[in-house]
Amino acid sequence: MHLAFNLSTTHNNGRWNLPGAWDDRTFPDVTLYEDAARLAERACLDMLFSGDGTGVPDTWGGSRDGAVKWGVFFPRVDMLPVMAAASRVTKHVGFGLTYSTTFMHPYYLARLMASLDHLTNGRIAMNLVTSTRRTDAANFGFDQLMEHGARYERMEEFVAVCRQLWDATEADAMVWDRDSGVVGDPTKVHDVHHAGRFFKVEGPLNTPPAPQGRPVIVQAGGSPRGVQASARIADHVFGGDMPLEVQVKQRAALDIALRAEGRDPDSVGVLWQTPIAVRETDREARAYREMLRGSMSPDAVAVYLSYIDGYDFSTLPAHFTLGALREQIIATQASPNGVVTKLAYKFGADTTISREDFLEQALLTVTQYENTVAGTPKHVADVLEERFEATGCRGGFMIGQAIAVIADLQSIGDLLVPELQRRGLFRTEYRGRTLRETLAES
Ligand SMILES: Cc1cc2nc3c(=O)[nH]c(=O)nc-3n(C[C@H](O)[C@H](O)[C@H](O)COP(=O)(O)O)c2cc1C
Repeated sequence: MHLAFNLSTTHNNGRWNLPGAWDDRTFPDVTLYEDAARLAERACLDMLFSGDGTGVPDTWGGSRDGAVKWGVFFPRVDMLPVMAAASRVTKHVGFGLTYSTTFMHPYYLARLMASLDHLTNGRIAMNLVTSTRRTDAANFGFDQLMEHGARYERMEEFVAVCRQLWDATEADAMVWDRDSGVVGDPTKVHDVHHAGRFFKVEGPLNTPPAPQGRPVIVQAGGSPRGVQASARIADHVFGGDMPLEVQVKQRAALDIALRAEGRDPDSVGVLWQTPIAVRETDREARAYREMLRGSMSPDAVAVYLSYIDGYDFSTLPAHFTLGALREQIIATQASPNGVVTKLAYKFGADTTISREDFLEQALLTVTQYENTVAGTPKHVADVLEERFEATGCRGGFMIGQAIAVIADLQSIGDLLVPELQRRGLFRTEYRGRTLRETLAES
């Protein structure tokens, strides 16, 4: 079983001031991330991960004030320098960063990731996203979101360019011979000449070949087109915290898509996003999870929801069906896999719901209160083991979103990991030299 830990919103969305989160520090104090990395490595976790978004949410009522006031996906920084700093106090744990293939350029990102792969001695993964939020797109010159399918076409071409760039310089191309003064072997540096629908890149990269060759690529597409893209471009996949039967279906769809691409489904793990509250007793764990109920004000929930689903929920009528709302959201090119889809699955697409009930239910979903697996190490390990087996024993879990980052990393390391190790489900030491090797361990 592989375990990653999600750092994405530990400093906002009502979590930063919970006991055990940021103590007397405030974001983006790098010492907290260094502590997190040490704790993750002590627990032998595969990877620390951070998601990203590049805009201040302003979908709710057309205003960013709620996001700023309540810290809803605000503030954020590019986590690359933070992860780079955290890599310097560790040796084994990997680091996953998120970048948008809709907004970025592949030459720039291929070069950046190769550079960071050197700095971390081969511990870098990039989580590629197509970006489903208009607020983010507006900062890169888009008046509308690019069409959902076209975003994925661009992602596939983006990765094809990155791969050509990483592969263009052979692993042993650097000579560094002091006596002769020869630096590189020109016969081992090859042309790229890429010209496609979205990108024209001459190449090659002017960076020495990265320790991993190709930094690990992760992708989290949940829609059918997103799953197809995973099969084409991803080394590993992040899966959403959906009901187990939906995860089983997504794994089956991914396996079919991987086979169609001529890839071995056993080589591609899915790390399922799974919020966890583990404590020595059930009572303590449930009390810990209970903090989530009060972590966000109804105003903050509305801002969060509108941003994530790309729909201004302040315009909702008094009563509506979740299915009709979902269709309206899809028509705007946002993801078909958002919070409304989750609620439509739970309550039925044709059920009429009132605005008040919708927002109340949304609170339980966006704070992850109802999805958080809370209990003793034995209970949490039982749940993980059941889900792991049901989804084909390939991959594992992305723990998060964390409730209180430092307290969570401590309890995962002190309580959950030893229980998984006792069951022979989790490593007791790192064996891989690079993150790619760590993620491939079985
Ligand atoms: C664990 C996980 C992490 C994600 N992180 C991000 C992120 O940081 N930024 C982002 O824009 N989308 C993120 N997403 C959203 C996915 O990239 C994707 O858009 C979503 O699953 C919907 O699928 P679709 O794009 O195929 O419709 C994440 C999804 C998952 C499951």
